[in-house]
Amino acid sequence: MSRTFSRRTFLHQLGAAAAVSALPLSLVEIVWGQEKGESFTFAYISDPHITQIKGASFVENFDKGLQKAVTEANFMFPQPDFVVFGGDLAQLGKREELDHGMEILSKLSVPVHYVIGEHDYYLDLGKYWEEKISKLYYSFDHKGIHFVVLNSILTDDDWTNKRWASAEERMGNMARLDNPNGSPFMVKEAQRAWLKADLEKLDKKTPVVVMSHSPLYKIYKGWNFWTDDAEEVQALLQPFDQVTVLHGHVHQVLYNQIGTISFHAMMSTAWPWPYPTTYAQAKPMVPKMTVPMNRADPFHERDATGWSMIDLESGDVINKVELWENTPRTISKDKKLGHPADSTYQDPAKRIPPQQHY
Ligand SMILES: [Fe+2]
Ligand SMILES: [Fe+2]
Repeated sequence: MSRTFSRRTFLHQLGAAAAVSALPLSLVEIVWGQEKGESFTFAYISDPHITQIKGASFVENFDKGLQKAVTEANFMFPQPDFVVFGGDLAQLGKREELDHGMEILSKLSVPVHYVIGEHDYYLDLGKYWEEKISKLYYSFDHKGIHFVVLNSILTDDDWTNKRWASAEERMGNMARLDNPNGSPFMVKEAQRAWLKADLEKLDKKTPVVVMSHSPLYKIYKGWNFWTDDAEEVQALLQPFDQVTVLHGHVHQVLYNQIGTISFHAMMSTAWPWPYPTTYAQAKPMVPKMTVPMNRADPFHERDATGWSMIDLESGDVINKVELWENTPRTISKDKKLGHPADSTYQDPAKRIPPQQHY
């Protein structure tokens, strides 16, 4: 860990302390140092869920979460090379919501790479997003790292196009967390074929960072914390020495390691979701390698929102999480276990609420 890293952590803490505590913020800074390459950082902002009330009136708390993340990113020193936006810009996929969110994001002082979320997609199946914001999947190279953006929230065409009487009905169903009528998300075959071809040209030693909206592994199907063809995507990534998957959607601190692939969730600027095991009606289903979270209180709107900083300089992921209203956590690779683990676990006396198991 470099001195630069410590200094930045310090700055983040100052920023959080000076901030109005009523605002949620999730922003991730990533440092990647390579032996012969150039270290650089990028920031990650995800899941603001901009929600239109009526006309020009939007839910203020969600606006402010995103505005705060943009302000913090603009104040980063040194400036990140770029920002990744992790999806769910809108709540119900409306043009007004996407336009309003883009107006806020337009204040960012560095380029932005966009990932689409299901809340952005299911009203018009990504048409406005593609027209005004970004391609739905693509890759780019930056200072020796290969970045891939996937659209991981697809469903079967038959299900998507024929099941609902209207686009609004489809969007309304897909916007639910515990959607009994839902369909699992998928990357689907065409995109997997594209990914295979995209990766084929690379040396297997090239570090790869994949950004998706849903996690590219299976956590809990009942809430669509799930990508149905995750194993097939993972199989394309496993031959590489070092792969990091960053995703949004779950609105919580979450991580896993499968083979050479490290998975890390980015927090939401809008609200936290509880961990599935804290939901009494749901059958617990947590990946074997993921330790239980020591949150979340679904009635505490800002538990699990805050800063996180991922350091990839050593080649192993170290994720320092500064939660605004909870004690800090550090998640790093446990060499003995061979996967990430909470190396600095939260103080049980201070965390809210204590972890509950059902
Ligand atoms: Fe979301
Ligand atoms: Fe989502």
